[in-house]
Amino acid sequence: ESRDSDDEQLTPSAPHRRRSKLAIVGAGAVGSTMAYAALMRGAARTVALYDINSAKVNAEVLDLGHGIQFMPMAEVVGSDDISVCADADVVMFTAGAKQKPGQTRMDLAEATISLVRKVLPSLVEVAPDAVYVMVTNPVDIVTYAALKLSGLPPTQLFGSGTVLDSSRLRYLIAQRTGVAVQNVHAYIAGEHGDSELPLWSSASIGAVPLLEWNGLGEHGPLTAQVRDEIAREVVESAYRIIEGKGATNYAVALAGSRIIEAILNDERRILPVSSLLDDFYGISDVCLSVPTIVGAQGVSDRLAVPMSVDELAGLRRSADALRAVAQRFGL
Ligand code: LAC
Repeated sequence: ESRDSDDEQLTPSAPHRRRSKLAIVGAGAVGSTMAYAALMRGAARTVALYDINSAKVNAEVLDLGHGIQFMPMAEVVGSDDISVCADADVVMFTAGAKQKPGQTRMDLAEATISLVRKVLPSLVEVAPDAVYVMVTNPVDIVTYAALKLSGLPPTQLFGSGTVLDSSRLRYLIAQRTGVAVQNVHAYIAGEHGDSELPLWSSASIGAVPLLEWNGLGEHGPLTAQVRDEIAREVVESAYRIIEGKGATNYAVALAGSRIIEAILNDERRILPVSSLLDDFYGISDVCLSVPTIVGAQGVSDRLAVPMSVDELAGLRRSADALRAVAQRFGL
């Protein structure tokens, strides 16, 4: 591509981008930040924002459009008419009530399920071949409900799950060990919420198993106490941020863009997304996060990550907690 002197071309455009269309449902803090993140990372050629609030969505489109000169070439469109999502390759569903201080994600379940019930059928009508990624909370319950409501195959619709929680876990491990977060490989599994759990036994720092990490320089070892502190801090992260600024948006938007890129580039990237399990270590008929292959068709293989007895028990507890909520809503 030609490069003018004052252009800040971030990433070269890839052939796939010429036709890729990303639709984001909901132009709130998460949806509009996700549009910004995807545009800055050159994730899609066309980004379409849909929201029932016409003034808001038009303002977001204008504000994003004014920045196109500073990002990889893209087109930004938006409307309060769902047809703006027509023929999307990926649909990110972020619309829904915001978690208020003191609320859990599960408190949003009833409102969000009825919103999904209202919007999803028309979405699937205009974009039948899109890969659908539910982001709205409680994302595991919303994903399970969306699968039931849409009739889409469990490969084509899944949830953002614990991609965000795993990035929080890696951030905290990197801080405690003094190494680059990119060299920390660790997953949070289960519910994107209070019953989630770190998979310590399969985690590694560089090529060193995390449980054998003896510290580096002034950074001490990751003792059981330190690991418990980190696990608690991951679960509490969203509550702390919501207390301070009313919502979380940056990291969840970047996690969403990572998922978008894995789909549009057909990366077959291993991500802890929330999908319908079918006999995963004997766990079935529930949506929760385990490391999963994400590519152009959506989700495919789940990795049978080795787990300790405690980790597997924790995953089963998380599945039971999610199933109980799903049953409460007649799903
Ligand atoms: C969070 C929201 C996205 O964890 O659930 O920040």
